[in-house]
Amino acid sequence: FPIFKPHHESWSFAGPFGKYDLAQLQRGLKVYREVCAACHGLNLVSFRTLEGLGYSDAQVKAIAAQYEVQDGPNADGEMFNRPGIPSDYFPSPYPNTEAAAAANNGAAPPDLSLIAKARGVERGFPTFIFDIFTQYAESGPDYLYSLLTGYDQQPPEGMQIPEGTHYNPYFIAGKSLAMPPPLSDGQVTYDDGSPETVKQYSHDVAAFLMWAAEPHMTARKQTGFSVLAFLILFGALVYITKRKVWSEVT
Ligand code: HEM
Repeated sequence: FPIFKPHHESWSFAGPFGKYDLAQLQRGLKVYREVCAACHGLNLVSFRTLEGLGYSDAQVKAIAAQYEVQDGPNADGEMFNRPGIPSDYFPSPYPNTEAAAAANNGAAPPDLSLIAKARGVERGFPTFIFDIFTQYAESGPDYLYSLLTGYDQQPPEGMQIPEGTHYNPYFIAGKSLAMPPPLSDGQVTYDDGSPETVKQYSHDVAAFLMWAAEPHMTARKQTGFSVLAFLILFGALVYITKRKVWSEVT
């Protein structure tokens, strides 16, 4: 059966000077919270890191407080629930993998903290050489976007789709997956006037998940650029110095 290559989408964070679009990340967080969080955790992301999306301290506290987090044991040795604080992590929708699998036809929805990197497919030789220079890191979000928008395809004539799964030719590990199409037009309300379409939601949540997997990407790229500029300049100076120092030796 065919597995389609992900579409190449355009991302604000692409290239050596790429930056996250904070408004897009905030929309993506909204999609995650209102749709994906019903089944998928974000175990490695703490609320305080949401400051990276441009939220103030007070806003982060307010978001955290909307979640129930398990804490304890208390003095009596019991676990208890309390409202979240910024140092807590996004709670998972299921207590453990077995419960997650049982609720989803045997296929546990993976935690999404690192999925954008985990599905960043290797592009092989020689492309990866160029990828170093162009800082190509978008294969993960390209895959997520393609998967989320890929449910509109019809299976080829005669293909058997296992019960409880949904055909999606972009899925990396088979012809169909246990996740039902999660998004539909108009499902999440945006207050900045962006289109409320499956395509826009998929773009935004894929960008958000890229941020979740690599929150310091922008800083990394900026530092990397300065370091390379310095090395080139320093290299030139060392070369000129060497010529001067050795100029009288014949
Ligand atoms: C798998 C993303 C919503 C249930 C996945 C995978 C991703 C993903 C990236 C892994 C695919 C792979 O292995 O390559 C999302 C996003 C969502 C969303 C971004 C929100 C827009 C949901 C919802 C449910 C769900 C609401 C439950 C109704 C599952 C299940 C799997 C899965 C059961 C495992 C599929 C399998 O391995 O067969 N999802 N998901 N997802 N998701 Fe979601």
